[in-house]
Amino acid sequence: MPTYAVLGAQWGDEGKGKVVDFLARDADIVARFSGGDNAGHTVMNPMGTFKLHLVPVGVFWPQTLGVIGNGAVVNPDVLIQEIDDLQRRGVDLDGRLMVSERSHLVMPYHSVLDELAEAARSEAIGTTGRGIGPAYTDKAARIGIRVADLLDIEALLPRLEDAMAHHNAIIEKVYGGEPVPLDKVYDRCKEWAALMMPYVGSVEHVVYDALQEGRVVVLEGAQGALLDLDHGTYPFVTSSHPTIGGACTGLGLLPNQIDAVMGVFKAYSTRVGSGPFLTELKDATGERIRNLAGEFGTTTGRARRVGWFDSVAARYSLRVNGYTSLVLTRLDVLDSFDSIRLCSAYELDGDIVTDFPGSAAVLERCTPVYEDFPGWDSPTAGATDFDSLPEGARAYVRRLEELIGRPIDIISTGPHRHETIEVRSMVSA
Ligand code: GDP
Ligand code: IMO
Ligand code: MG
Repeated sequence: MPTYAVLGAQWGDEGKGKVVDFLARDADIVARFSGGDNAGHTVMNPMGTFKLHLVPVGVFWPQTLGVIGNGAVVNPDVLIQEIDDLQRRGVDLDGRLMVSERSHLVMPYHSVLDELAEAARSEAIGTTGRGIGPAYTDKAARIGIRVADLLDIEALLPRLEDAMAHHNAIIEKVYGGEPVPLDKVYDRCKEWAALMMPYVGSVEHVVYDALQEGRVVVLEGAQGALLDLDHGTYPFVTSSHPTIGGACTGLGLLPNQIDAVMGVFKAYSTRVGSGPFLTELKDATGERIRNLAGEFGTTTGRARRVGWFDSVAARYSLRVNGYTSLVLTRLDVLDSFDSIRLCSAYELDGDIVTDFPGSAAVLERCTPVYEDFPGWDSPTAGATDFDSLPEGARAYVRRLEELIGRPIDIISTGPHRHETIEVRSMVSA
């Protein structure tokens, strides 16, 4: 399977980092294609525990090249810090990391604008405050600054002047905020140019050539399908495309170059930030899952909202991504529950709804229809073999496969790399 995508299938934080770290043992290239340092991917492997925001997690396997594609937005301060931290902890990135010259930069004024816009909204989105929305806004408005611009620092100045005149007017006149000094930003750009230079390259060509040579390329999704700018629960979404189309535009890939698409689901649901979340548990059960599972944001430390698995949302996620198989993470978190619920449909004005509504307002009016499952009597934590799972856990997994409509090829039973079950042959048998 030369090229496969590993995509967040819910609202992010499904455990993509853990899964890609496990799978990248066979990879030549691991590529990020969307989002920025709003992402937080946790891995626990023999080198330690790491929380990466921009560097693809595949770099822990020494044969891999990590690439950041044109569809991602890069805050150079975060990237440089992350590279330093990794090198200091023994991960040698020399010649093993490449950033597309076409990637847009997250600039200091973007995080200022992000926070001011959030504060001014009647209902905040609950962004990560990392400036991601404003960076993508500038890209679409064609006033963004790209990695390539750092390499021609003289030509950058008039473009930066224009962009900052525009943004400082908004910061001051619309929000009553403090303008960001142009000279400081320009000086920082000069420093970034020197620090980033060794990592800048033609990612799209490198990935294309690798595919022509039959190499294995893993596409590391960030965020999740239900946060997609088009397909998510708009306006409570991120500003990029974490879905499979985003992998094509975000890396210059052709659709027929992608051999498989894996959707990563948690065995329950979480969401950080605002927006519809029908199966949310605002009670002691939700609190218990949050504390047991440590459901606090990797990037912001915020408490994640927690709820039961939503198979209506999951089928929609399959519909927009065309998963060829599924990955289920965090099954072990449900080990100690006497009963587990699974949302199989919604009810809206007395009717049963099985298609995920496109409007956040309509979604808010739906109520979940649940199936109940008994808990299981022995733990799944750390299991590496499907047959060793308790019958109750296997029944839950099988029902998820039925409701979503695809086989579950991988089950994660703990945060560490080795706490993983590969079930493909068993499931497809
Ligand atoms: P990502 O953004 O999708 O990479 O996910 P995060 O790293 O933000 O959050 C997932 C969290 O779940 C991290 O703390 C992981 O260490 C942890 N994790 C991943 N898989 C499992 C699992 O199967 N069981 C448990 N208990 N934790 C897991
Ligand atoms: P990973 O890759 C979970 C959410 C934010 C907010 C919304 C918009 O770790 O799964 P933004 O800062 O992107 O403008 O915020 O999107 N969000 C995530 N939630 N995991 C992520 O990434 C997220 N990236 C953005 O919480 O609701
Ligand atoms: Mg995360």
